[in-house]
Amino acid sequence: MDRWDMSRMPAFSDPSQQNPSEQSPLRLGVMASGNGSNFEALAQAIEAGTLRAELRLLVVNNPGCGAQQRAERLGVPCKVLDHRVLRNREDLDQALVDSFRAADVEVVVMAGWMRIVTPVLIEGFAGRLVNIHPSLLPSFKGLDGIGQALKAGVKVTGCTVHVVTEELDAGPILAQAAVDVDRDDDHDSLARKIHREEHQLLPAAINAMIPTWRDQASL
Ligand code: GRF
Repeated sequence: MDRWDMSRMPAFSDPSQQNPSEQSPLRLGVMASGNGSNFEALAQAIEAGTLRAELRLLVVNNPGCGAQQRAERLGVPCKVLDHRVLRNREDLDQALVDSFRAADVEVVVMAGWMRIVTPVLIEGFAGRLVNIHPSLLPSFKGLDGIGQALKAGVKVTGCTVHVVTEELDAGPILAQAAVDVDRDDDHDSLARKIHREEHQLLPAAINAMIPTWRDQASL
């Protein structure tokens, strides 16, 4: 059985039918708060040619976090928007929208963004703001999806890539991958297994959506 649910994803367009602007790489922005392994997985997929995109800008809210260090190593432009020095969530989200627009970003990926986002960002990138969550949504929404799954005693959990809408972790699902929970799994071991799947799923889900986003843009 195919482990990824690509059934609702569009088929790839025939490149010969595309105009030059459709063939250009997707201009991606990424938001991260911590380690940044999913951010780096996007960079690796681009490098490997499996994700037809370019990383225009990473925004982090925690100065010096792992994601920022990875961006410096990878040569990806990075901006720090520290939520502690901004007045409220809306100001942070407006700064995010302004930064991504200034970088000519088409699609924004929340890859481990640990702040609740507001309509300022959701409407600023309507249908083009994507999140990765460490559970099989709609199960275990919100904080610590991995801990919630362990506590519930489920035998299968996983990760979900979805479009962000106003209701937390409830937007349209783009792709999911399942992970078995073994009897001796603890938080760390399960997190490692989920991360491994996320690093494949996120770039694949974004790549599969490019024709849809480009079609919408040309309407
Ligand atoms: C991932 O597990 C993702 O599902 C969640 O935050 C984690 C980020 O990990 N939203 P990393 O910073 O990409 O390593």
